[in-house]
Amino acid sequence: MNPRFGFLLLVLSSVLLGADSRCPPTCDLALGSYFVPQGSDLTRISNLFRLPSPDIIVSYNRDKVPNRDTVLAGDRINIPFSCDCISDTFLGHTFQYTINNQDTYDRIANTFYSGLTTVEMLQRFNTFDPLNLTPGSSLNVVVNCSCGNPDVSKTYGLFVTYPIRSNDSWESLQRDTNVSSDLLRQYNPDVNFSEGNLIFIPGRGEFLPLVMRFLLGFDPIGPRSFAMLKPCSVRPCLITCVTVFFCLQIKVATIHL
Ligand SMILES: *[C@@H]1O[C@H](CO)[C@@H](O)[C@H](O)[C@H]1NC(C)=O
Ligand SMILES: *[C@@H]1O[C@H](CO)[C@@H](O)[C@H](O)[C@H]1NC(C)=O
Ligand SMILES: *[C@@H]1O[C@H](CO)[C@@H](O)[C@H](O)[C@H]1NC(C)=O
Ligand SMILES: *[C@@H]1O[C@H](CO)[C@@H](O)[C@H](O)[C@H]1NC(C)=O
Repeated sequence: MNPRFGFLLLVLSSVLLGADSRCPPTCDLALGSYFVPQGSDLTRISNLFRLPSPDIIVSYNRDKVPNRDTVLAGDRINIPFSCDCISDTFLGHTFQYTINNQDTYDRIANTFYSGLTTVEMLQRFNTFDPLNLTPGSSLNVVVNCSCGNPDVSKTYGLFVTYPIRSNDSWESLQRDTNVSSDLLRQYNPDVNFSEGNLIFIPGRGEFLPLVMRFLLGFDPIGPRSFAMLKPCSVRPCLITCVTVFFCLQIKVATIHL
């Protein structure tokens, strides 16, 4: 066998078999529905979610946030993040939070991150004694996310992680999101609909074929300014390289014939 072809097979199989995890496919973009707490502002919020600039939040919330100096407590805004594989088991994103004096898990989960994570999640992904958090240390804040389910619908490729609040119902969510409560239930079949639990709400945007996402290296659903900040991850790059390499080989072979 041509050694180059052998190498190609090796790379290809390691790329395909390397996906040895129970995670569903990840995606470059998910949104978190964030309930703005009293006294917060966009700079603080973008620090919490490790966004390089408050302008990114503005670009995802043009209807609610006209500019970077205006955000109202009690508003719900969408925060963009990448939806990754956590512990080889489920989809989420880990934010690093720097602990301050007088922080508690409850305040961090329910006020600062407005229920996008929970006290249980903080306990699960950190080894601190919850009654003795060390100021200045970094805390793993894991927020769950979804990249959709092509079996339910191919129309949606972008999902909002939404912490249920006390007066929410399937009907009020249908009214607020313009997504039918039937479809909402189909995407959240096992959810216990009560305060503090999470549901995933499909957002606008096409369900791009995976190949397209791989080739583009980012998800064109969102504003490009944000998407471009993420370098294309190793696997898509490898697949693109392998594809190009493979096509060139075929071309060369054809010319030789
Ligand atoms: C996030 O997902 C994991 C795995 O499905 C689950 O164990 C955990 O309870 C979820 N967290 C929240 C806050 O729903
Ligand atoms: C839900 O409660 C919040 C505050 O408690 C209130 O601002 C909001 O209008 C309520 N929503 C509905 C649909 O009643
Ligand atoms: C809700 O959906 C309907 C039909 O899909 C559409 O005509 C309408 O403009 C949407 N409204 C909003 C606020 O998105
Ligand atoms: C649903 O969740 C609430 C709050 O998390 C909990 O109190 C309740 O027992 C749960 N119900 C079921 C049927 O799991």
